[in-house]
Amino acid sequence: MEISNGLEDVCIKNTALTFIDGEKGVLRYRGYGIKDLVEKCSYEEVSFLMLFGELPDRKELAQFTSDIQKGYALPEFTRRVISSLPDDSDALSVFETAFASLSCGEDGFVWSRENIARKAPEALGRASAVVAAAFRHMVDKEMKMPVPTDSYAGSFLNACFDGDVSRQSVTVMNRALVLYADHEVPASTTAAIVSCSTLSDMYSSIAAAVAALKGPLHGGAAEAAYAQFEDIGSPENVDSWFQKNVVEGRRRLMGFGHRVYRTYDPRMAIFKSMARELSTSAEEKRTLEIAEKLEKLGVERFSPKQIFPNTDFYSGTAFKCIGFPIHMFTALFALSRTVGWIAHMSEYIENGGRIMRPRANYTGHGPRVLQSASQK
Ligand code: CMC
Repeated sequence: MEISNGLEDVCIKNTALTFIDGEKGVLRYRGYGIKDLVEKCSYEEVSFLMLFGELPDRKELAQFTSDIQKGYALPEFTRRVISSLPDDSDALSVFETAFASLSCGEDGFVWSRENIARKAPEALGRASAVVAAAFRHMVDKEMKMPVPTDSYAGSFLNACFDGDVSRQSVTVMNRALVLYADHEVPASTTAAIVSCSTLSDMYSSIAAAVAALKGPLHGGAAEAAYAQFEDIGSPENVDSWFQKNVVEGRRRLMGFGHRVYRTYDPRMAIFKSMARELSTSAEEKRTLEIAEKLEKLGVERFSPKQIFPNTDFYSGTAFKCIGFPIHMFTALFALSRTVGWIAHMSEYIENGGRIMRPRANYTGHGPRVLQSASQK
């Protein structure tokens, strides 16, 4: 049997959702370029596009937005689950646990178009409430459920923070949500598809995706990338840090490299410009300078191997400027990607996707005579 380590170049489904040209650095959702979507669309519009195939008209958008808002009120049992978790829980673990709890009562979930149209907006509303609750749990503040405003991003930020949230933060949050909404079939989406292929329910399958997202090689890379900037501490230390850790220590540069892109990840430049736009305090400017110096050294060293900065290199810098601590970054990614997971699962089932059941090539012992401890 031929083994593809890491499923490299294995195609697991047809998709009309997301197109990536890894050689040219192109990313499109249902035919629309990522830059256009970021500049012109709300996350709600992009979510509708991903789930139903076309951008919504005004009436469809109003209905979809109202359906999302119905999901803002989390069930009491999920609120209790979140409140009972340790104070130092990272937000993604809270997300994972909360979504696993939301699967209670979902036995026999059917992956029909009607159910997705009803349950997907509910899940998006709940994701917003869960991530906001995870944040407030982390910073030891009383839970606040999102309340409807003129945008999903704004309602989410208002549920996280006390006081006024700036228009600029809402715009950047919306853009970040659009940027992370889907990316074909990375590990987390594949985990979701494996789960739903058994006809498991939507919430359980999202929890499976979140588990796969957590690691530093995937969604956790934004936190790992930012941790490097903190570790470096000052722009003057970048060269020596890089030499010691990356050149001599052979440590991976986090926020660099991608299985599909052999050039710059197109999302990276957009996150970088948002990080630049938001970095106004001395500390923010210092972090940005560290990141930009590190990017330059990384590109010099790794571009001959076609390794370039990816979306996670600057996203944390932008999130930090909005006011989120490092252990929120992966949860913010998950918040956005929830729609991509649902859209891919729904597409897989609709296209007649079978249960995922690959094989493993056996390399162990041949037949052996068994002698248990009591027989020896
Ligand atoms: N720094 C240094 N070397 C690297 C890096 C890196 N960030 N990424 C890959 N390489 C090298 C690796 O050492 C290997 O070298 P060699 O052939 O000499 O042994 C070669 O490139 C191939 O690496 P690989 O791990 O086999 O490649 P992969 O396609 O399996 O892994 C990756 C892709 C994203 C896991 C990897 O590039 C990586 O670990 N990057 C750092 C973590 C990161 O930023 N992840 C975010 C990915 S993008 C957004 C997301 O998915 O969330």
